[in-house]
Amino acid sequence: MKERDLISKELAAAREYETKQSALVAEDERPVYHFTPRIGWLNDPNGLSYYDGQYHLFYQYHPYSSYWGPMHWGHAVSEDMIQWTYLPAALAPDSPYDHCGCFSGTALPMDDGSHLLMYTGCTDDFEDPTGRGRWLQSQNVAIKTADDSEYHKYSANPVITFEDLPEGADPYEFRDPYLWRMSDGTYRTLVALGMSDETAGTRLIMYRSDDGLHWSCGKTLFEDSRRIGVMWECPNFFPLGEQYILIASPMDMQAEEEEAVGTIRFPKGNNVCYITGQFDEDTEEFIPTKRYEPVDCGLDFYAPQVMETPDHRRVMIGWMQDPHTANLHEQDIRIFGQMTVPRKLEVKDGRLYQWPVREFDRLRKDEVHHQQIKAEDETIRIPDIMGRSVDLLVNITQMDACRQLSIRFAEDQTHAVELRYEPERSVMTIDRSRSGQQKEMTGERTVTILQHGESMALRILIDQWSAEIFVNGGEKVMSLTYYTDLSAQGISFSAKGKAVFDITQYTISLE
Ligand code: FRU
Repeated sequence: MKERDLISKELAAAREYETKQSALVAEDERPVYHFTPRIGWLNDPNGLSYYDGQYHLFYQYHPYSSYWGPMHWGHAVSEDMIQWTYLPAALAPDSPYDHCGCFSGTALPMDDGSHLLMYTGCTDDFEDPTGRGRWLQSQNVAIKTADDSEYHKYSANPVITFEDLPEGADPYEFRDPYLWRMSDGTYRTLVALGMSDETAGTRLIMYRSDDGLHWSCGKTLFEDSRRIGVMWECPNFFPLGEQYILIASPMDMQAEEEEAVGTIRFPKGNNVCYITGQFDEDTEEFIPTKRYEPVDCGLDFYAPQVMETPDHRRVMIGWMQDPHTANLHEQDIRIFGQMTVPRKLEVKDGRLYQWPVREFDRLRKDEVHHQQIKAEDETIRIPDIMGRSVDLLVNITQMDACRQLSIRFAEDQTHAVELRYEPERSVMTIDRSRSGQQKEMTGERTVTILQHGESMALRILIDQWSAEIFVNGGEKVMSLTYYTDLSAQGISFSAKGKAVFDITQYTISLE
């Protein structure tokens, strides 16, 4: 055996475990078209990239239980970003600088045909001056060369340590490198940093490199001294149309209200936000043009990652989970955690729009279409509109005499997830408080929808225990999970007042 083929005992053990245990998972333990871990627990998407003719998705992975634990990187590949094939786990926490966990990071294909991963290593292998038992964090590299199948940790890891950090930096909150290439061919990585002085907020620090291995500290790309959360985890930074977009996941935000309408813009806790702006490649200055806005207005969405496809679309996949409620599931399940569908990003009038990638439409089957359904102070059920793996399009064409239109799904006698729209206030609510979950968790969220005259277009992707709702072509998106029994297959429509709408439904199944 060549030396490079040797893998650590930790990685070998994870692979043996995932091979054996994943074979026991029945098909109905997974959603139909949402990505789940091969076995055990999943959180953030990592290393999302197109390399060697395929899409690669790595993920924060704890194979040994359905709860967060020492982080590995799981790995899967796909031709279309929808149907994924599991590969053996790529990284295990097996080195002095990452033995407490291989945290999130990104990937880049390199000119020599190699695939470079950059991730955060966590270690407790040092004298902790705080005595709080926290993990020191550093940035590390793993490389797969063109003629190899293994990702090897670079012998000179860590490549970025806290030694280069500005004064006041917190070395225990220093993670999630986002790699990209500048137009002159040099590399940058953007790393999230918390400041020890709690009044100092968070920073995103940029590093530069000519080869992806040797890094020097550059500018602070973004600084939040306004205390929007304590730490902007998992940053993404990329051009889109005429501007650049920064997407990050601030931890522990205070709730923020939408002025004038009184809805909640950001609920309390961890959120994902975006900021558009201009980036000057020469001076490496980012000038934000807009206030920060929520990326997804549902109940479960965190730590998304964005990549560029070969045809230059920017595509985002998120962890479809609120981290605060991630431990409330039944203990005996074998897999926990799922990704959103891949969403193509666009900016229109300064706003971020998201839409399922066109590859998804190939999974649509059994089209059912009903035109001009009228509901007036009643609930309507249509026999062929139902199911837990569907793509449901509802175009409301008349609602001037409607006080509220509700769509219920995953419905039976006692359960339902409900989407409510109130045309007069132009607000939409997603409500899972009757979906069967008994533990205390946020049941609903209400958001303001831009007015587009008389009509409203909804696209609801339902997949067993989740839904992603795209409003008006992706101007607002609401994602959520729920635990309703699969026997609840109903979909119904209710109007207070009068509404008229068209419905198209497709069943979604993999090829
Ligand atoms: C976000 C996050 C990242 C970290 C990873 C650990 O969910 O906390 O900041 O790298 O998860 O699993």
